[in-house]
Parts: sequence; C-alpha cells; structure tokens
Amino acid sequence: MLRSIDRLDDAGVYLISADTAIIQTIDFITPIVNDPYSFGQIAAANSISDVYTMGGRPVTAMNVVCFPSGEMDINILKEILRGGLDKIQEAGAALMGGHSVKDSEMKYGLSVTGVVHPDKLITNSGTKTGDSLVLTKPLGTGVMSTALKNRLITDKEMRETLRSMTTLNKTAAELMIEMGAHACTDITGFGLIGHASHLIQEGETGIEFDFQAIPFFAGVMELSRKEIYPGGLGRNRDFYAPQVDFKGRIPEYKRNMLFDPQTSGGLLIALPPAKAAVMVEKLQKKKIKAVIIGKVIKNTDHRIMVK
Ligand code: CO
Ligand code: CO
Ligand code: CO
Repeated sequence: MLRSIDRLDDAGVYLISADTAIIQTIDFITPIVNDPYSFGQIAAANSISDVYTMGGRPVTAMNVVCFPSGEMDINILKEILRGGLDKIQEAGAALMGGHSVKDSEMKYGLSVTGVVHPDKLITNSGTKTGDSLVLTKPLGTGVMSTALKNRLITDKEMRETLRSMTTLNKTAAELMIEMGAHACTDITGFGLIGHASHLIQEGETGIEFDFQAIPFFAGVMELSRKEIYPGGLGRNRDFYAPQVDFKGRIPEYKRNMLFDPQTSGGLLIALPPAKAAVMVEKLQKKKIKAVIIGKVIKNTDHRIMVK
C-alpha cells in the first residue's frame, strides 16, 4: 500500500511494482438530471474523476447498477449505460463488465482502476505556503439539480451545469501533471470547503479564498437566496463551518454555496503561482473555466479564510 485509508485520499493506491501503482475507486449516484444518457455520462465522469485527481490514467471500469426492473423501461437503462460507456471510452479506459441488482431506486456509477508511476502520484498532501489554488469547474451542481428536481428551473436553465458535469477532468488533470502540481482533490460531496480542508491536513498550512474569484453557475445564487438546498449542504455546513473564518460582508446565502455538495465537480489544484497562471490560461483556451480562487497560507490551525 502506498497511502493509508486515514488520509482521506480520493482513491486507494496500491504499489504493484517499482514503476507502477494502481489507483482504485468506486462511486455510484442516483439520477440528478432528467435525460438518462446525460445521467450516465455524469455518473461515469464523477466516478473516473478520482483517478484523475491522483494523477492517474484510467485503464479499466466496471458498471455498478441498481435498477427497478419491471417498473422502469429497460431502454432507460440502456441509455444510461450508453452515456457511461461514452465517457469510459473518452477517458481511454476499457469497460470490463459490471454488476446490477434490482432496487426500488435507480443508481449508477463505476468502479474504476487507474495506473500511475509511484513518483508521479498526486495526493491531497504536499501543498506549500504560497501555492495558488486553481478550481477547474464552477460550483453549484447540488443546488441546480435540487431546483431541477423540484421543477424550479428548466432543462434549458440546467444546460451549463449539465455540460460541466458531463465534462471529464481529463484535460485539467493532464495539464496538472505537466505543470508539476503539489496537491489536488476533486470537489464532490463535501463541497468546496470540505474538500479544501483535505489539502491542509498537515504542516502549518491554511487557505485563503477570494470569494469574488470563485465561479458559480448562472442563476444559482438566486436559488440559494430561496434556500433551494440539497440535504447534504446543511450537513456539510454544520461539519465544516467551524473551520472557516468569513471576513467582510458576505451574505449567508452566498456563504452557503461553498458547502454545496458537488457531483462531477472540478479539480482543486495547489501549485506555485507562476505555474497556476500558465495552467489557467491554457485551460481557458481549451474552454475549461479554470480560475485561481485562493492561496495556501501559513496557518498553524489549518483554518480556511474567505474574504
Ligand atoms: Co474525490
Ligand atoms: Co469519490
Ligand atoms: Co476530497
């Protein structure tokens, strides 16, 4: 084993030879959009992301399926699996099989295996004081999908979020490896603050976020003002807010968005400022909305400042 489970890494890493480690991860989710093909793409991109997060290359994937057979049209499942397969292939991985069980609620995801040279592994430790923090996707998928489920927004209003969730973190990860990133995590269920806290578990490090720089999906703040929140948002806030110092006047509905659980969220990457600037420029040229949203600061108490 290369990394122990208590490190809150994004995936498990196992050394199989001097020059190869395997990265293993599993994730499956309930539908968050109406279109089954898109849901398949999102669930797959979400599952594969943890391999990218650790600097790995996905090689194999297995479908994990819970399906209400008899109650749901089998063509829906076919569409979900087609969406998943498209993302597996885009990632350059091979689908090896899978397992399905009958369940009252639809669920889909992947178990993914990736490979990495042990010296090239990127984990959530290794941030250095002065590092810039790059976020590669806007925030708000939890609130947006809750709004969609409650028919408060249309599929059209969901389009930007959908496009983001179906985008693999492949390009961002490849560039992060090229740039020699110090540390990385992807933003998923624990929201920006929860996952950011994984980057400052050791040393005398803390984080300072510039709220103005943090990207959100269009329309999400209006929904937050109306408290259209997924259940996980409140749980994340209760758990992580004590670690955060909000400076200046940021209204509560805006603060809350930093705790919104994400599905297929972006990477949060720590790297030296000059490299971060180059990385952002290169990603933006490839139409990936990466931005620098803060920096790693010296802080003995591992606190997160938001100003
Ligand atoms: Co992750
Ligand atoms: Co995960
Ligand atoms: Co994390």
